[in-house]
Amino acid sequence: MATDREAVVWTRSGTAPVRMGRFVVTDTECRYTYDSSYLDNGLPGLGILYDPTFIGENTITWKRSQYFDLLPQLQTLIPPTSEGNFQRQLILSWLQQQNKTPEQGFDSDWAILMAGGHGGIGHIDVFENDDQASEWYSDTRTQELFTINEDLGFSLKDFMTWFDNSAEALIEALGPTPSVGGAIPKLLLSIPDSGWDGRIALPTRCAVADRTDIVVKFEKPTYPGIVELEALTLQLHAEAGFEVPRYWTAEINAMPVIAIERYDRDPNGKPLFTESLYSVMATGDSRVTHHYSSNYDDIGRVIERSPIPIVSDPQEAKHHLLKRLIMSFATGNGDLHMENLSLIQRDGQTLFSPVYDPTPMRAYSRHDMLSVMPFGNYGELDNKDQPIGFEAALVHLAKNMGFSRNTLRLIVSEVLEHTASYPQQIRQLQTLPKENQENLIRITTLVRDILNGLM
Ligand SMILES: Nc1ncnc2c1ncn2[C@@H]1O[C@H](COP(=O)(O)OP(=O)(O)OP(=O)(O)O)[C@@H](O)[C@H]1O
Ligand SMILES: [Mg+2]
Repeated sequence: MATDREAVVWTRSGTAPVRMGRFVVTDTECRYTYDSSYLDNGLPGLGILYDPTFIGENTITWKRSQYFDLLPQLQTLIPPTSEGNFQRQLILSWLQQQNKTPEQGFDSDWAILMAGGHGGIGHIDVFENDDQASEWYSDTRTQELFTINEDLGFSLKDFMTWFDNSAEALIEALGPTPSVGGAIPKLLLSIPDSGWDGRIALPTRCAVADRTDIVVKFEKPTYPGIVELEALTLQLHAEAGFEVPRYWTAEINAMPVIAIERYDRDPNGKPLFTESLYSVMATGDSRVTHHYSSNYDDIGRVIERSPIPIVSDPQEAKHHLLKRLIMSFATGNGDLHMENLSLIQRDGQTLFSPVYDPTPMRAYSRHDMLSVMPFGNYGELDNKDQPIGFEAALVHLAKNMGFSRNTLRLIVSEVLEHTASYPQQIRQLQTLPKENQENLIRITTLVRDILNGLM
């Protein structure tokens, strides 16, 4: 016998925290309904395709699948089991301290969502009920900054090498932290607005002067040098004209970390609407079951033609996407999947978020692939039974996205110009092993030569 589960969705993207709606999970469905009082307040909804003005009081019904128990916008608040378990472990250890040990599977997912589904990335906060929401929002004390000490650093390090599965020291110091997805262990924290100085606090819950929210990503021993690589490619993206959040690299007890300012908060710490492209695409198409199960051509089409507009300026968004992809080719990042692309709403516009996670994963042999998602029928057979090459596929993609060959050339030349010193910059990295340096240089030189041929 199954019992239906219920929870509420709140947001503090307006002037004060307000309830957005509620949802029920049955054995077969997830059903979400906006509060009628929420519909006309002009605040963002659950997701781009679930705009409150379109949905109204109609209940959204989502058929549960092996990929999504919940609507994609809610599912994304639960760190997936498959992607390492740092965040899950953190919350499960905290639950254990409260004498709660949920069963594996959906029981655990639900418990994690109730404990860590608020105060995280984006504008959506999930709570068990309204009382818990009110209680949580009413705690507007400024979280105390404290200096990361050896103890915390040490237990974190243990945690990361998987020798020690208890997150006790971290939890004692910080309490439960809101959850965040992804493969690399990371924490949501806040730091002085002036920048990283070794002092951290829990994320803000309201406007706090002189404080900014950050994501901290820890370098896993399996990816030596990844922090430096992420910093370098963030810098290159900024130089190539992309909006890039502020970031700082540091060490916590000999463990490299990168702290990146949150793009889903405005300067006053207020949450901005954000949704990953994965969530948008999965909402619109049940065949999208993984963060890579689409292709850039289709994404371009969706941006152009979705009956419910996905972005305010489709032309600009497609240009951004194409340039990001070419930038990822030139820097050796085959990992530009739909969870590494997000939309935000800012100043009444919906657009791609600032750049995050541009890390050139091809530096690590097990991630050495040109692209995690197909583009321009690359590698497929053409009408002469010849596999379509990189150059032809890129031209094809640009065409599918509605760009002339000349526009493609302009983008490619810009990307090549801003990444011209990449090999030298890679050689200057202190922590990326020589072998990975040489591999990345070899791989990207090859790709850049082909890109040059397009000119
Ligand atoms: N600066 C930021 N502001 C707000 N949210 C962020 C920021 N950086 C990352 N995120 C969110 O956290 C998620 C995970 O971060 P990120 O993609 O950097 O690491 P990762 O997913 O662990 O790496 P990988 O994609 O290699 O698995 C992102 O998908 C995004 O939703
Ligand atoms: Mg990512």
